[in-house]
Amino acid sequence: MIYNFKDRPRRLRTSETLRRMVRETRISSDSLVYPFFVTEGTGVKEEIPSMPGQYRWSVDRLPELLDELGESGVGSVLIFGIPDKKDDIGSGAWDENGIVQKALKFIKRDFKDFYCITDVCLCEYTSHGHCGILSGDYVDNDKSLEVISKTALSHAEAGADMVAPSDMMDGRIFAVRSLLDSNRFVNIPIMAYSAKYSSAFYGPFRDAADSAPAFGDRKTYQMDFHNAKEALFEAKLDDLEGADILMVKPGLAYLDVLKSVKSRFDKPVALYSVSGEYSMIKAGARLGYIDETDIVGETAVCMFRAGADILITYYAPEIARLIKKGVI
Ligand code: PBG
Ligand code: ZN
Repeated sequence: MIYNFKDRPRRLRTSETLRRMVRETRISSDSLVYPFFVTEGTGVKEEIPSMPGQYRWSVDRLPELLDELGESGVGSVLIFGIPDKKDDIGSGAWDENGIVQKALKFIKRDFKDFYCITDVCLCEYTSHGHCGILSGDYVDNDKSLEVISKTALSHAEAGADMVAPSDMMDGRIFAVRSLLDSNRFVNIPIMAYSAKYSSAFYGPFRDAADSAPAFGDRKTYQMDFHNAKEALFEAKLDDLEGADILMVKPGLAYLDVLKSVKSRFDKPVALYSVSGEYSMIKAGARLGYIDETDIVGETAVCMFRAGADILITYYAPEIARLIKKGVI
């Protein structure tokens, strides 16, 4: 065997210009989506204790957020609603005057250039905090499909550009697609939370959205983190059911899953870097153990390198600024 000792990988690392020339991963703020929480009331900009730097916003205060996002170069958002009232079946989720619907109407009127994706789920709206309708203590799959689809339709009617069902019920993509199609919304894409794991990384989000389950956990519908092949099976079903974009969630600890979903399917793949990932970096940085900016830039690039076409992250504006400055 001949080994070519003339090769020196360090040769291409000798200057910044050269390193930039041969980079394999180039990222754009076009691929970033910023998730945020909108709440009832007026004048509300309430910091989320477990997510410093993230807020619950009332609709009237949204201009402050949207202006900042616009300046940073982030043009896409993922909207979560925190309603005033909850009930057994989560009826606030598909109320035409519900919180997400009001936020959509406002953004589409005053900030129409923003691309609005909505999280479609019941857990913020149900008194028990589960993502579907209960039969006894069990989350009933097929009963849930009906209300989840109704919620997606009501978001589309209020102006959503894309819907993202996150409940992990079986058959939801087909159910949502069918209802949208029979109501003139054939061109509203569906981003499927395809491989959504039951994860401790969602802890801060549940504080933020007040959506922790009142009993039990989400393990009968969200995926077991021991499994990777199952993610491909979930993605296959969503693909066949008509999802436009497949998502893997959480992000950093699940890059193997992202990579295999990306290599197996011919649709764009989104990665959701979730609340716990954000809060860990914040906490580490506040303690002075890590450099926040460097870690945010590096982890973002790594998530794209692993195959993300779209990155959903609470750090979207910071990442966009790093891209603009040419840091990453
Ligand atoms: C609702 C939903 C959750 C997240 C997104 N949509 C929480 C959950 O499933 O418990 C998590 C997002 C995050 O942690 O940033 N189903
Ligand atoms: Zn949910």
